[in-house]
Amino acid sequence: MTLEEIAKKMVAKGKGILAADESTGTMEKRLKSVNVDSTPENRLNFRETLFSSDAMKNYIGGVILFEETLKQKSSQGISIPELIMKSNSIPGIKVDKGAKTLAGSQDEKVTEGLDGLRDRLNEYYKLGARFTKWRAVYNISDKFPSSQAIKSNAHALARYAALAQEAKMVPIVEPEVLMDGQHDINKCYEVTTNVLNECYNELEIHKVFLKGTILKPNMILPGSNCKDKSNSKEIAKKTIECLKKNVPTDVTGIAFLSGGQSEQEATRNLNEINKLNDTNFLISFSYGRALQQSALKIWSKNMKDTKMVHSVFNHRAKMNGMSSKAEWSENLEKEFAA
Ligand code: 13P
Repeated sequence: MTLEEIAKKMVAKGKGILAADESTGTMEKRLKSVNVDSTPENRLNFRETLFSSDAMKNYIGGVILFEETLKQKSSQGISIPELIMKSNSIPGIKVDKGAKTLAGSQDEKVTEGLDGLRDRLNEYYKLGARFTKWRAVYNISDKFPSSQAIKSNAHALARYAALAQEAKMVPIVEPEVLMDGQHDINKCYEVTTNVLNECYNELEIHKVFLKGTILKPNMILPGSNCKDKSNSKEIAKKTIECLKKNVPTDVTGIAFLSGGQSEQEATRNLNEINKLNDTNFLISFSYGRALQQSALKIWSKNMKDTKMVHSVFNHRAKMNGMSSKAEWSENLEKEFAA
């Protein structure tokens, strides 16, 4: 498949991406929150349970893995990438080495991982990965993000994306403007605009083939401690406007992160965004927490009850699949809860 074909398949109408690429540290936090020890076996067990669900065939076009999982074997003896491909879904891999303190602006982060990346990418391709992810994070405050943070992260994202394409894998470009803070929705719009502009300047300089990329942005939201809450219609209107103004039309797909929204908020907002989508972008989800939270809780109570975990995960994935086509409604949630 060409890069463009892979990108289109990852976010085909009705489908989106499962971000199961939590680093060992983040996974430890998630498992601790449900009183489960973070061992390689438990991490594999939870993930394999999700990857064996029916949702994979119907609603999940691609799965982002952490390196540990890419190299693990399922209980059936096949590799995890093979298990994912059995559902006609595409395996991918997070390739950055995490956000580290930015020298010269100690309260901000720059994502590392470019050294030796070419060799790692070739290894990941051999293990079955066909797309990759690199995440940059930006804080909003009176002073931040600085132009230093915006420029250094965009530069790294572009160098990463060029290397991923050289290795025949689709890069997911993820510049995440964090929700934390008291800022209002307009401030998020303004910062996201600056961040996206700098990213696409750098992607152009590094000759990245945009049709073979997926953008993974934040939605335009008020800060989590902002007094003025926004409704889904306002969020959708501002998000679509920001993307139309700042993302080149050649980009194939846009798959949002959930970033701390609840499961239903993330679904509702994606649905509203797709109702307004008059662009050529395939707009869908690439959720971590908003796809896995309920499933993780159920799994932690009885790891052997695969049927129950599948039913919860299938529902969440289906709801987001519907939102990617603007066909979700509150009633579908109520029916399932009943
Ligand atoms: P959330 O949807 O939980 O924000 O995770 C998405 C992700 O992959 C962050 O890099």
